[in-house]
Amino acid sequence: MGKKIFSGVQPTGNLHLGNYLGAIKNFVDLNNDDKNECVFCVVDLHAITVKQNPQVLRDNIRETVATFVACGINPEKSIIFNQSSVPAHSEGAWLLSCVARMGWLNRMTQFKEKAGKDKEKASIGLYSYPILMASDILLYDTTHVPVGEDQKQHLELCRDIAQKFNNEYGVEDFFKIPEPLIQKYFSRIMSLKDGTKKMSKSDLSDLSRVNLTDDKDQIINKIKKAKTDPLPLPSSIDELKERPEAKNLIEIYSSLNNLSLENSVNEFKGKNFSDFKDKLSQILVEKINPISLEIKKLINDKGFLDKILLEGQKKADNIASKKIKKMQEIIGF
Ligand code: TYM
Repeated sequence: MGKKIFSGVQPTGNLHLGNYLGAIKNFVDLNNDDKNECVFCVVDLHAITVKQNPQVLRDNIRETVATFVACGINPEKSIIFNQSSVPAHSEGAWLLSCVARMGWLNRMTQFKEKAGKDKEKASIGLYSYPILMASDILLYDTTHVPVGEDQKQHLELCRDIAQKFNNEYGVEDFFKIPEPLIQKYFSRIMSLKDGTKKMSKSDLSDLSRVNLTDDKDQIINKIKKAKTDPLPLPSSIDELKERPEAKNLIEIYSSLNNLSLENSVNEFKGKNFSDFKDKLSQILVEKINPISLEIKKLINDKGFLDKILLEGQKKADNIASKKIKKMQEIIGF
């Protein structure tokens, strides 16, 4: 049987190799399987949990659609839309926030990381963001959610919320309990400057990530400057445990080439980093450059991107508004 897929990406600019290898590459494979029904959402409501410039946000929404298409998602097969265009997402988030428990949200590590030391100054939206995410997923009777490792805890919360709603209102199976689809390997790509930190859009140093809009020279330069260690490349996977930068670069190489970590380690064991970095740059340019060129072409075609969003909005709204109606009835409105 086919899967019902839902996933979202924030339109906050600088979509990078981590987003691609951890999530979007998977979206493309799921989209290509005719048995699946896929919904891919540009989560603009999530983006405003931190301050956004309106014009930049508008551009980033279109750029995220362009990125989906440039990476290979077919808008004829998958629903692509932006979250704020379907009001059911916000309404669902409110209804579910009356089911979710403070204690559950207080455990979310991403909030703690993002809010930093000064929690008092974080927006309420940043805190309750995983409930909006649960609303996104549950409105579409989603069975599988492809994401990177960093979203695992939010998905567990979504499952808890779904279960509690079903139990409290005695509506077994009303919300499907979704399964995370997190790749066993390469689901957490790390910064090029610090192998213990996640590659992230918000890192101040652009050298910490390969952006999907980087050109050939930028990619080569970033790999050249990527942090390594003084030893030659390791001869076993075990040795990688103590060498986070080497591990990350070899993982990126493996993922792009669809190789196992073991195969890549064997290919480069005992060699120095400069040989390896040449090969890594080569494969990165081969895979990312066509995407980057396509994004740059598509972002100039606003009409095309807006049409995708409009078509997607109609289809998504049709599904989500029906589910909200049923929720309202169950709740007693
Ligand atoms: P966001 O926009 O931060 O990231 C989009 C996707 O990219 C993955 N990702 C990574 N994977 C591997 N290594 C990395 N360094 C890395 N950085 C990001 C993320 O895991 C994610 O899959 N809350 C979500 C968006 C969202 C969503 C949803 C996802 C909203 N509603 C419903 C699934 C279902 C987020 O902020 O992703």
